[in-house]
Amino acid sequence: MSQEYAELHVEGKIYKLPVVRGTEGEKAIDISKLRDESGFITLDVGLKNTGTTQSAITFIDGEKGILRYRGYPIEQLAEYSTFLEVAFLLIYGYLPKKDELDRFVHEVRTHTMVNEDMRKIFDGFPVNAHPMGVLSALVTSLSAFYPKAVGLDIEKEKEYLDLTIIRIIAKLPTIAAWSYKNSQGHPVNYPKNNLDYCSNFLYMMFSLPPIEPYEVNPVVAKALDRLLILHADHEQNCSASTVRLVGSSHAGLYSSIAAGIDALWGPLHGGANQEVIEMLQEIYEAGGNVRQFVEKAKDKNSGFRLMGFGHRVYKNFDPRAKIIKKTCDEVLTALNIKDPLLDIAKELEYVALNDQYFIDRKLYPNVDFYSGIIYKAIGIPINMFTVMFALGRLPGWIAQWLEMRRAKEPIGRPRQVYIGETARDYVPIDKR
Ligand code: SDX
Repeated sequence: MSQEYAELHVEGKIYKLPVVRGTEGEKAIDISKLRDESGFITLDVGLKNTGTTQSAITFIDGEKGILRYRGYPIEQLAEYSTFLEVAFLLIYGYLPKKDELDRFVHEVRTHTMVNEDMRKIFDGFPVNAHPMGVLSALVTSLSAFYPKAVGLDIEKEKEYLDLTIIRIIAKLPTIAAWSYKNSQGHPVNYPKNNLDYCSNFLYMMFSLPPIEPYEVNPVVAKALDRLLILHADHEQNCSASTVRLVGSSHAGLYSSIAAGIDALWGPLHGGANQEVIEMLQEIYEAGGNVRQFVEKAKDKNSGFRLMGFGHRVYKNFDPRAKIIKKTCDEVLTALNIKDPLLDIAKELEYVALNDQYFIDRKLYPNVDFYSGIIYKAIGIPINMFTVMFALGRLPGWIAQWLEMRRAKEPIGRPRQVYIGETARDYVPIDKR
């Protein structure tokens, strides 16, 4: 097919810009030569209309509420797959054969321990340290414990690259659980290699031997595994773009992931799941008047937003929110929990989805709206909800980092439009 072009008419000249079309019909105008040819750059604060890469990992159709990992619909993966199988799919690009998956799972299970010296780093944190800060610091410290992971040649050292990937997938749950135990002043639980990924995490989080040995509820472990699948990747979101940008300087995988953790911490991104529960709690304590809070969210001057609502890409239901809402009911029924916050969430969703303000702006519940209710039912403390998001998003970040490095993308270095002072001379202090 012959190359298509867009034409830019500016300053009396015409510039032909190549058109790029994706396999799902997404279309773009390639401006990579625009500045050299015309002196112009484009301006798109927040990158709402700008593609920073061509990727084969995840496809989202925001209008239709479609999400696929490597072409597989999220609904099927959530129903039939496991988190470690999805991690393999995202990172290596295909569904593994049984022996490949068994080997991958075995490798993860046998690398869950962290270096005992990392305990000293934990001990250095105050007990009220936010677990996301602890997680980010400990992930960065992995570069110190595995210095060969920094600057490794991803083509020539494939085996070590696979080991570097296995290590962080295996150790992140241990680091997360230990940061929780540290904050409780409890002794840590060492990982058990005979447990599956989520059961091991729940055991490390909640077992309190010999006082209260923790029995993993298989319904809870399965629900957690599904939640991690639903969070595993989401194309060029804020944290994934951060991982790619930091990795484009050829910073190591661990420091790139730590940067992603810090970006996810923001309340407008992964931090929203913690904010949702705090918002539902506030509505409950204020007497449960949902309509009053919906009105507040519509008032620009209130500074209040309906957390867990709205999305940069989804202008329809976030498909993950639908699955999480169903899982919510399953977990609360299995645990025989009646959580008034779930009733408030459902009423909030109903009122908002029938309100013109939300309809006009296509604001629907997103992935964060119901997930916190499940975490709360499982017993995960609110300040660890975003840590759960990071556990899920890890394979996506790894896949994005690998794709960027394998494509040999240049170091990311955006331009700007300068609007500051023009040239002026220095004024000595006694003349100001
Ligand atoms: C995640 O990118 C991803 O894929 C992220 C994520 C992933 O998997 O990685 O999906 C995870 O981050 C989900 C989003 C979690 N954040 C929240 O739930 C926080 C609440 N949501 C909003 O802050 C907001 O919807 C964003 C940040 C999610 C999206 O913001 P945009 O695309 O920049 O939209 P905007 O802020 O320009 O809002 C457009 C309009 C504005 O009104 P007007 O100026 O047009 O009158 O919608 C309004 C906003 O005021 N609006 C909201 C609202 N979200 C947007 N009004 C009330 N409540 C809200 N939640």
